[in-house]
Amino acid sequence: MSEAKLKAPRGTHDLLPEQAPARARVEAAARAILEGAGYERIETPVFEATELFARGVGSSTDIVQKEMYTFEDGGGRSLTLRPEGTAPVCRAYVEHGMHKLRQPVKLWYLSSFFRYERAQAGRQRQFWQVGAEALGSQEPAVDAESIVLLAELLGELGISGGLRLRLSSLGSRESRADYGERLRAHLRAHEDELALEVVERIDLNPLRAFDSEHEGTRAVMASAPRLLDFLGVEDAEHFAEVRALLDAAGVAYEVDSTLVRGLDYYTRTVFEFTSTALGAQSGVGGGGRYDGLVEQLGGPATPGMGWAAGIERILLAGQLPASGARAVDLYIAFENDGMGPLEGAPAGLRRGDARAAFGVLSVARGAGLTAQMELAGRSLKNQLGQANKLGARYVAIVGAGESTLKDMQGGGQETIATDTVVHAVLRGLHDL
Ligand code: HAM
Repeated sequence: MSEAKLKAPRGTHDLLPEQAPARARVEAAARAILEGAGYERIETPVFEATELFARGVGSSTDIVQKEMYTFEDGGGRSLTLRPEGTAPVCRAYVEHGMHKLRQPVKLWYLSSFFRYERAQAGRQRQFWQVGAEALGSQEPAVDAESIVLLAELLGELGISGGLRLRLSSLGSRESRADYGERLRAHLRAHEDELALEVVERIDLNPLRAFDSEHEGTRAVMASAPRLLDFLGVEDAEHFAEVRALLDAAGVAYEVDSTLVRGLDYYTRTVFEFTSTALGAQSGVGGGGRYDGLVEQLGGPATPGMGWAAGIERILLAGQLPASGARAVDLYIAFENDGMGPLEGAPAGLRRGDARAAFGVLSVARGAGLTAQMELAGRSLKNQLGQANKLGARYVAIVGAGESTLKDMQGGGQETIATDTVVHAVLRGLHDL
């Protein structure tokens, strides 16, 4: 009886070899752009104490209320697979005393995250983000630089068609508290026109009402007071400066006072890049300032600013190479009897050639060539077919003492001593 076939869990997917080149492009572009701007790589653990997200992301958010993969370990600790990267990076900043370093401390990551969401195209339960966080400065230039870097990355990856940058400011916690009261009053005055889930959140998180798709709610929100009109003087100045800097950098944006992000830690600047190439899940990447978060996690008062962009969404929206295996400089073939991996051949008869081939393989790789050797016991004829398929530049048919070296591009062929094969390939490749 055959066993039932197992599948990857819903909302997760395997990263197959043909997807690797496009992902490698994203990583290489992120590294070049972010490290060029002084960001350094950080990776935090896949799971953290549940409390980190409860405190950091906020108990009124969808993420904490219903999307976390939380479990108890053997020692009875409550742990959670990270749903996002900002709280963990702030935890690491505090834990490693990074406030003593030169500020701002700029960190980037490319990691997988986990949210129990309704799975659909562009929305997974395990997904990948590239993210950048700058901690320790409240200068508007940090906000602007951070946003410009994401714009640059998306541009570099060919995601420009249908791309919009929405920008807003949520002000400081104090100015938001005043505004929250006004918004609550407006919502309460129209309670019977609102979606039930919006009514339920009037006390906890009234801003989320701007996110609702519910028609009645949308009508009520059209006449709601806007946070941007109630910013304190310093918050308004900060926002004006961020905008002026983006203008100076030539980055186009739309001020959108209805922009709400799904995490509680934001203060002042918030932004989001959306792409029309993505359909319903249009957010490619977003972020903002989170000036109180480090303190909330037990650290010194430290401002912060950052963003994350979804790799799957970048790949959906961009035009990146689907495949493109690395070119093979040298394919190493050898004579065998074609009956499987040396099976059936009298012991010792062909092993000499196989061993010589293996020796050439090590020398070739040691010399920096991309080299592959026959590993599946194919006949010599099929090995040559294989070399062709791989687009090998040279093929060596290796014997214990002598080898035949074929130039697959130039068409020539020569018989040389086996221990000079790699040298000859290097000479040919570098036109020596
Ligand atoms: P976020 O908006 O929740 O922000 O996620 C950032 C990006 O991750 C989204 O724009 C989207 O591209 C991708 N993403 C989120 N959820 C999923 C999912 N279920 N499937 C596929 N892609 C997804 C944050 O996570 C913040 N930590 C960003 C930040 C950094 N703010 C300040 N610093």
